Amino acid sequence: MALRDIVIFPDPRLREISQPVETIDEEIRTLVSDMQETMYYNEGAGLAAVQVGAHRCIFIADPVLAGGTREDPTLVYINPEILDSEGDQVGDEGCLSFPGIFVPVPRPSKVTIRAMGMDGETFEQTGEGILARAFLHETEHLNGQLLIDKVGRLKAQFIKRKLKRAADKK
Ligand code: NI
Repeated sequence: MALRDIVIFPDPRLREISQPVETIDEEIRTLVSDMQETMYYNEGAGLAAVQVGAHRCIFIADPVLAGGTREDPTLVYINPEILDSEGDQVGDEGCLSFPGIFVPVPRPSKVTIRAMGMDGETFEQTGEGILARAFLHETEHLNGQLLIDKVGRLKAQFIKRKLKRAADKK
């Protein structure tokens, strides 16, 4: 496993569309295991492949989001597709590509996803609360959509300024 660099907004790579995965080969297995190491190292709850600069339709999530523990296998979603959503929730949302930013984003409270697992089998899963939020947030990454698209214009300007200041300091 290897730690990969997180792509930080406004890097244009975050806007590129990810490509579906056809076979789970060594390259994909390495990518997913690197993503796991990178997510946990950066204390993220979810991570899309695009955030480490790999434009493949893959995201992972911390099993804690599904009521498990950190010792459980990391949740892996390949070629994910949102099938259904219902209800409402508002909560603060963050993203490893927007370090230090947490903004309230209204989302459905219950979301059903279809995806392929690392075993190549397709599965469906319904997530509630924070897991539902992660399904939507991470699937949007694969389409080049970002947290900043979910907030109003003023808040978006604030986020841009804050990240620019942080980048200038480096
Ligand atoms: Ni994100």
